Amino acid sequence: MDFQTLRIPRHVAIIMDGNGRWAKERGKSRMFGHSEGAMSLDEVTETAVELGIEYLTVYAFSTENWNRPGEEVSALMSLLVQSIEDKTPKLLDNNIRLLAIGDLSRLPREVADRLQRCIDETAHCSRMSLVLALSYSAQWEILNAVKNIINDKISVEDIDEKLFSDYLTTKNIPDPDLLIRTSGEVRISNFLLWQLAYSELYFTETLWPDFRREEFLKAIADYQNRERRFGKTSEQISITN
Ligand code: FPP
Repeated sequence: MDFQTLRIPRHVAIIMDGNGRWAKERGKSRMFGHSEGAMSLDEVTETAVELGIEYLTVYAFSTENWNRPGEEVSALMSLLVQSIEDKTPKLLDNNIRLLAIGDLSRLPREVADRLQRCIDETAHCSRMSLVLALSYSAQWEILNAVKNIINDKISVEDIDEKLFSDYLTTKNIPDPDLLIRTSGEVRISNFLLWQLAYSELYFTETLWPDFRREEFLKAIADYQNRERRFGKTSEQISITN
């Protein structure tokens, strides 16, 4: 594999898609797919830490996911609580800080409390931040930012990209360098719409439960072979590099 230790993306965001289809192909329940998906998340997190990635943001539950059958929603919430509980010691061992973005006020009390405890317990960790997008949608986030800017009576001439970014739930988190989406869907699906402005996009047919270390390394190698120009010309980029 063509892989460089340099040019490691600072921030990788992932839309973990395809758990349901993976389970269906095997005649299993959708929750079986989500549980296997949780294992992929473990493996990808470990690999990201090894590579020196600083931020890994995963779309764990979207605002739209609240519309899934009640049974699946509560099973996903239980999986979340269980995973956070099981993984906290491993996060601490690996010096990983847990963060969460989204409309967390909609989470059931037990989930919100468990999540907050893990966030507090890992607050001092500095090797990597694992950011869970929960009850998250970018349109919600952007509208929320606009409402808060108005509430704070910010004057129009003070509103610029930096100020707006500071009103998003990702305040203090750099924009993703790379977005990965699994399962062959080629959409952004209301994820980090503001923050993905200049991100490289990587789509793969692989379903999330099959997306393990090798698949992740393939995505990183693909990223490393791209030229990021941020609207400039190739010549300008080679001068600044
Ligand atoms: C998309 O697959 C996946 C989700 C909506 C949930 C993601 C959850 C996990 C990977 C579980 C582990 C997460 C944590 C944070 C413990 P889908 O159900 O949309 O699949 P489909 O499109 O094939 O139906």
